[in-house]
Amino acid sequence: MINVNTFKEYKGVKKLTQITAYDYSTARLVEEAGIDFILVGDSLGMVMLGYSSTLPVTMEDMIHHGAAVVRGAKNTFVVVDMPFMSYQASDEDAVRNAGRLLKETGCQAVKLEGGAKYASRIKAITDAGIPVVGHVGLTPQSVNAFGGYKVQGKSYDAAVALIKDCLAVEEAGAFAVTLECVPADLASEITKMLHISTIGIGASNVCDAQVLVEQDMLGYTGDKTAKFVKKFMNAHDLIVEAFKEYKAEVESGAFPSVEHTYKIDKNDLENALKEIKESK
Ligand code: KIV
Repeated sequence: MINVNTFKEYKGVKKLTQITAYDYSTARLVEEAGIDFILVGDSLGMVMLGYSSTLPVTMEDMIHHGAAVVRGAKNTFVVVDMPFMSYQASDEDAVRNAGRLLKETGCQAVKLEGGAKYASRIKAITDAGIPVVGHVGLTPQSVNAFGGYKVQGKSYDAAVALIKDCLAVEEAGAFAVTLECVPADLASEITKMLHISTIGIGASNVCDAQVLVEQDMLGYTGDKTAKFVKKFMNAHDLIVEAFKEYKAEVESGAFPSVEHTYKIDKNDLENALKEIKESK
């Protein structure tokens, strides 16, 4: 299993892979595939719980799903997202809630959104001995402040602010930073500038690691996805086709067939029926 030191060792040497997972069964598959680390993202609010943003996600949601993932991927480094309002109000809240995530899920690190503004939170959490991943660029918990899900750092001012955010996150003690929806050339300069690892999502292949949301990369929805998503399979069509086949086979009687059926000794059944008849 990788640990926080692996990120330093691999920077500029070998790319790391991360996928989100939210449940035991998927975590097992991610581990079996040899993916380096898992993110239990608060994106679970949208892809698992059907909310329209990550804002309603609670600490209880993150603990519930985080613990299931850790049970499924015991030998994989797991990062759990700090949900909206679990760290924004104070350093004390941030430490208490990061501690809960570690204690109650068994994960190895937490991730929180925001740059310079939340540097004191990152410092307080790392001072408590809890590894932190920062998250800058498009930070979905601030969707209302951004006015939508948009590429970040595209102007001179925005680029300066984004670089400062990354430096602040590093200075505060994070061991990695997720860059979401950031232009490639800017992500490249940031990756060169930082000593910690950059984890890209919509930030090109220059980053030290990549992350994708499980449902996006498996093609769970037939819907249009963000430009940065590549569908590595078409789970939507495969799953819907399997459900349809199941329905058709149940209706025709083809399923369950003999191979899926349990047997009882003929005499035992006859005797049992006789006894029931006689006892009436
Ligand atoms: O919640 C999440 O899945 C994330 C990724 C988009 C990085 O934060």
